[in-house]
Amino acid sequence: MRAAVVRPSGALGVIEVPEPEPGPGQVLVEAEVIGAGYVDVMLSRGEYRGIPGPGSVPGVEVVGRVRAAGPGAPGDLVGRRVLAMPGFGGYAERVVVDADRVLPVEREADAAEAVGLGVNALVAETALYRAGVAAGEQVLVRGAGGGIGSLATQLASARGAEVTAVTSSAARGERLLELGASRIVDRTGSAVPDRTYDVIVDTVAGPDTGRYLRLLRDNGRHVMCGGVAGAPDEDLLAALLGDFHKSPTLLALSLNSLTPRELLRSWQEITALWTKGSLSPVLYRRLALTDAQQALELLERGTPFGKVVLVPR
Ligand SMILES: NC(=O)c1ccc[n+]([C@@H]2O[C@H](COP(=O)([O-])OP(=O)(O)OC[C@H]3O[C@@H](n4cnc5c(N)ncnc54)[C@H](OP(=O)(O)O)[C@@H]3O)[C@@H](O)[C@H]2O)c1
Repeated sequence: MRAAVVRPSGALGVIEVPEPEPGPGQVLVEAEVIGAGYVDVMLSRGEYRGIPGPGSVPGVEVVGRVRAAGPGAPGDLVGRRVLAMPGFGGYAERVVVDADRVLPVEREADAAEAVGLGVNALVAETALYRAGVAAGEQVLVRGAGGGIGSLATQLASARGAEVTAVTSSAARGERLLELGASRIVDRTGSAVPDRTYDVIVDTVAGPDTGRYLRLLRDNGRHVMCGGVAGAPDEDLLAALLGDFHKSPTLLALSLNSLTPRELLRSWQEITALWTKGSLSPVLYRRLALTDAQQALELLERGTPFGKVVLVPR
């Protein structure tokens, strides 16, 4: 089968690799579509969970059919369409994944739509759930035009919150207003948010993190979901301790730590909102698996609005 492997130069190359076999508790999934996200850029650079960039295959999510089950994996999964989250290795025609890291895709929707929600919606929904976002609260989303951010904007709005979306152009801001944001802050200009927030959903991090945390109201919650601008600096701790009197909560969220039950709860909520029409996948572009390098370059430049998907055939 074909897979996109990180070459020593850091660029991806699509090559023939042996077909994987599901081990104990695993299933083999044949990809209809593969989700591409900034996490794959980090993986290809060797910045992700100790995975050594060169020689590895990026890709944390795939929608496709289960073709085989390994020893001890539920046989009734075979033939089912699922969202599979292998951790890495998804940029391939087929991938093995632990059976408890697959979620049902029962809607007969386009697979690209399902992966357009996928991991990004799970992060966004779980961030808002863990932060306990309530109707009427003020929520700020950083990285709002991205895969996670565009869904966090919709999901916070569906919870009845008032959403401020931080983005990088007027055109992206227009789209975020259509997705439910109430106001836009253009991070490329001199504008800074002029109000305070109950919850911040942060996919950006970087040295500005402390500045954003200081915008929290009493008992506010800042959920760190990603870091496209790198790690926060020491100002974050200064902001947390300096605002001690407001009892801020700083939460870090990785899907890797979620139990199968937590993943299923979140996915059921996402699917229900999708079916109701309160949540829509935001697809930016479909590319062939052979163009996986182009997908990473787009993500690295921050160009996409929403999700990039790869099609293996
Ligand atoms: N927590 C988890 O389990 C989990 C799972 C998957 C991914 N992640 C992480 O979440 C982060 C976002 O992933 P994603 O797929 O949503 O990425 P994405 O689609 O590339 O979106 C990131 C967005 O951040 C904004 N941005 C980019 N560079 C920026 C900069 N230097 N300063 C400020 N804003 C910048 C851009 O939006 P605007 O132009 O609209 O501002 C961009 O579209 C990544 O770090 C990824 O590794 C976490």
